[in-house]
Amino acid sequence: MLPKIDFSTTQAYKYLADHYIDINQKSLKDLFQEDPARFDKFSTYLNDLLFDYSKNRIDEQTMALLFQLARECQLKDAMEAMFNGEKINETEGRQVLHTALRNQSENPVMVDGQDVMPEVRAVLDRMKAFSERVISGEWKGFTGREISDVVNIGIGGSDLGPVMVTEALKSYKTRLNVHFVSNVDGTHIAETLKNLNPETTLFLIASKTFTTQETMANANSAKEWFLKTGADQTDVAKHFAALSTNAKGVSEFGIDTKNMFEFWDWVGGRYSLWSAIGLSICLSIGFDNFQSLLAGAYEADEHFRNTEFEENIPVIMALLGIWYNNFFDAESHAILPYDQYLHRFAAYFQQGDMESNGKYIDRNGNRVDYQTGPIIWGEPGTNGQHAFYQLIHQGTKFIPCDFIAAANSHNPLGNHQQLLLSNFFAQTEALMNGKSEETVVAELQKAGKSPEEIEVLKNFKVFEGNRPTNSILIKSITPKALGSLIALYEHKIFVQGIIWNIFSFDQWGVELGKQLANQILPELKGNEDIQSHDSSTNGLINQYKAWR
Ligand code: F6P
Repeated sequence: MLPKIDFSTTQAYKYLADHYIDINQKSLKDLFQEDPARFDKFSTYLNDLLFDYSKNRIDEQTMALLFQLARECQLKDAMEAMFNGEKINETEGRQVLHTALRNQSENPVMVDGQDVMPEVRAVLDRMKAFSERVISGEWKGFTGREISDVVNIGIGGSDLGPVMVTEALKSYKTRLNVHFVSNVDGTHIAETLKNLNPETTLFLIASKTFTTQETMANANSAKEWFLKTGADQTDVAKHFAALSTNAKGVSEFGIDTKNMFEFWDWVGGRYSLWSAIGLSICLSIGFDNFQSLLAGAYEADEHFRNTEFEENIPVIMALLGIWYNNFFDAESHAILPYDQYLHRFAAYFQQGDMESNGKYIDRNGNRVDYQTGPIIWGEPGTNGQHAFYQLIHQGTKFIPCDFIAAANSHNPLGNHQQLLLSNFFAQTEALMNGKSEETVVAELQKAGKSPEEIEVLKNFKVFEGNRPTNSILIKSITPKALGSLIALYEHKIFVQGIIWNIFSFDQWGVELGKQLANQILPELKGNEDIQSHDSSTNGLINQYKAWR
């Protein structure tokens, strides 16, 4: 059982509320001038990953109080409850054990008195054997040809993780082309299948529940497309595999359970890329690289579990987020990877974070009277700089940002990497220091502007600065480093959920829309007018029916 403490009633929270008044008057620039050792104090490493959090609106007192907050909320007990397989997903009565999927130790992981590690390893062995057969060309399609293309059909956690990782590790690509279809909009599957040959295409139907409407619709269309080419039902076994917890659903769909890669209800959908859901990753980058991804995540798990809060990267990331969310009233948090391969990283953690912590009911079942999960968003730099950074620098919103970059590029082309990283370093410095009126005036004078012109222009050119950033610098985006990076963010989300006293591993908020869509679906058949809803919904449905 998780602790059920209202963090806003803790001593640390009260001290932090007072302390905020002091810190809010200080600028980051001043903090650095007062203490040149900030970088040493407020940065830490996990192997080849540097986490620099010195450009945050904090001092030693802030961090001490935040760590006290974590202790008063019994974070350590909650962490152990998760790692030890307690049913911390209480509203679904489930354990939360994605960490077991990447456990590299010999230690057992117990679920209801049984060690799950033999099963985890057995599925990994099957994933290895299967992916190696497909990659080597030994696995043949129904006309005897090698597989050239793999289409993963899934949505949410059964899509976003594999998409993000296969994109991030594209430079490790095997000969297979891996595609992803998620949207129920027929365009997604139609456009994907347009250039594919059914004789050489393998479909992975990825769904934890094997009931998700979007995935089932796309899977059925894929099967129809496949069968239209002269293949028959027995050929399905050569072209369809299922990644699921639901064996019954898989066989009802017509996939032989021999072609099913299993996982378990103690793996949350948005934490499932480490499970059989990662089969598309294995096919895309090879099993050994997938194994390195798991090993990197395990290192982050060990770091999280065994490191004092004062040096614990996910704990620090989470506490800083709470500091901004609950004391500075920040509404959102930007994730800005300066690495094109990480272009889906923010999108992945939109689900990871917002589906986990976007909740207003606390663990006691009461409505909270404080803010919980932030809006997560972001795009790769430098594209973002030419799109939305204006608002981050000079807008009225307060947006803490994570900057992520690799020191070494997989594509060392000319001076591209230096150009990219100079922008990374410049942006965090600019957000911190801003540009004073004095500097603006001096620059305008130097440019030959008259005093009148300077008076008109100067306010537009001043940057207040004092905008906080974390910097994550990684030696290189290898499978192992990526595994660690993802796991650090996962644990950050866990820590925040514990402190906000919410359940991070259910997602009841996605149910209502699904229920209503199922009610509306039959109403879209036929031509009769619909009057069962409010006037807006009726009006939209009826106009749709008239126009189609
Ligand atoms: O969006 C709701 C959700 O349940 C996610 O949590 C999950 O990742 C996604 O749907 C897909 O579910 P499934 O893997 O069961 O098809």
